[in-house]
Amino acid sequence: LHVAVLMGGLSSEREVSLSSGRGCADALEGQAAKVTRVDAGRDLAQVLTALKPDVVFNALHGKWGEDGCVQGILETLKIPYTHSGVLASALAMDKDKSKAVLRAAGVIVPGGGLFDRHEVASRHVIDPPYVVKPNAEGSSVGVFLVREGANRPVAEVGAADWAYGDQVMVEPFIAGKELAVTVLGEATGPRALTITDITPTKGFYDYEAKYAEGGSTHVLPAELPPHVFDKALRQAELAHAAMGCRGVSRADFRYDDVNDVLVLLEINTQPGMTSTSLAPEQAAYVGMDYRELVRWMVEDALC
Ligand code: DAL
Ligand code: MG
Repeated sequence: LHVAVLMGGLSSEREVSLSSGRGCADALEGQAAKVTRVDAGRDLAQVLTALKPDVVFNALHGKWGEDGCVQGILETLKIPYTHSGVLASALAMDKDKSKAVLRAAGVIVPGGGLFDRHEVASRHVIDPPYVVKPNAEGSSVGVFLVREGANRPVAEVGAADWAYGDQVMVEPFIAGKELAVTVLGEATGPRALTITDITPTKGFYDYEAKYAEGGSTHVLPAELPPHVFDKALRQAELAHAAMGCRGVSRADFRYDDVNDVLVLLEINTQPGMTSTSLAPEQAAYVGMDYRELVRWMVEDALC
């Protein structure tokens, strides 16, 4: 079997993807007859046409690699690939549209919505505390937390060099815990693995907390009341199905433990596969080590 591992790419999450891709390619060496590492550039269609892999392992994150574009190229070239297809990928990358679909399916998602970035830069469009984020980025790139009582709005999103769209998502900040649930789309239906409770070492769960060694501590399985634990697993599976995801996805939640409110923030269709990432850690917890997880993803792509 010839596996091409797509990594790097053109998004703001390029470095994260290189790290995910190296991990996955290393894990596949020795398990597949041939592994080719491909830094996915604008010539990807030509590169893959020449390579003729049996299957693509898509380790890209963010724009172009996670938003349906690369998936469209792979469909057109008739090459099987890991993770979600065109529609689910495009949908999940758009936070506003995915919230509408998830809400309709019965998943509890945050309030708030899209606002003009200049308006967000000049005044509080909702009462603090709130979170401002690009509508279509990952890894907490461009995310700002405006704390309770803050008198300054997020001036950064009004800057001339703001690169993440003219509309930004503004959501009430949900105090409490940051939780993540990995889902495997098995033949019998989506299976949520377990729940990780994430505590950033400082500040909030931003880019540094996600990828720096010691940037955050993970407790798994999360210590939660049983009804909340079960609800998070079921909501993650429901969301995976409602979005039409395939292979692995990861649902990110906030749990307000004072008011007992669980809210699903978003679905990630290309969850990180780095050494500090959540999905491999959860798979290992249920007895599937990194190599097995990666192999399962390739097998799933082929069936
Ligand atoms: N966007 C990063 C890679 C994640 O969801 O894990
Ligand atoms: Mg994300």
